[in-house]
Amino acid sequence: MREYLIAASILSADFARLGEEVDNVLASGADMVHFDVMDNHYVPNLTVGPLVCEALRKHGVKATIDVHLMVKPVDRIIPDFAEAGATYITFHPEATGHIDRSLQLVRDSGCRSGLVFNPATPIDYLNYVVDKVDMVLLMSVNPGFAGQSFIHSSLAKLRAVRKVIDASGRKIRLEIDGGVKLENIREIAEAGADTFVAGSAIFSAGNSTDPRRYNSVIQAMRNELAKAK
Ligand code: DX5
Ligand code: ZN
Repeated sequence: MREYLIAASILSADFARLGEEVDNVLASGADMVHFDVMDNHYVPNLTVGPLVCEALRKHGVKATIDVHLMVKPVDRIIPDFAEAGATYITFHPEATGHIDRSLQLVRDSGCRSGLVFNPATPIDYLNYVVDKVDMVLLMSVNPGFAGQSFIHSSLAKLRAVRKVIDASGRKIRLEIDGGVKLENIREIAEAGADTFVAGSAIFSAGNSTDPRRYNSVIQAMRNELAKAK
């Protein structure tokens, strides 16, 4: 059976208490932190940069930080995120002129690399760089905002990427991002995903002051994943 990982997206956290929110979501059982970086240029929204990633490390966060770059261009900022403590750095092929070079830059900077495909971006690029990625991230919403609905055609795309990954024989994570919740996580796993980003589904579930307040939703997601065939 696949090792399923749940990545909590900070986009839906309370940014005024970010360190505490990340501590709480990890204490509640999330496997990793999904760190959404937006530039109001590649996507119509603006979030946080390397300083905030570094601040989380200084705060004591030891977990995997999965930096999802929704910025253009990417090469200038990749080494800064590596320096700031990113574990994975993923970017969109449309956001760089030289995909192969940018992937190499991520690895040379000491991080794990990944390519992100928007709902209508063809996955063909992957065929030429399958030896240079540690993760493929499929967007199941158009990037920019939390709380959007899962785009159903992403399931067929997941199946297609799963085939490419399996045929490569490489250890590459297949992550899905956007509209993942309790009701659909099982069918998403069955389509081939092994890493699940969830923002609003997790953070909207914690309406108490218990530091482990996100545990019940994360545990319920794991129970669904355990049923996946
Ligand atoms: C969207 C971001 C996502 C977002 C997902 O552009 O890349 O990571 O936080 O949010 P939910 O899980 O609410 O769809
Ligand atoms: Zn994301």
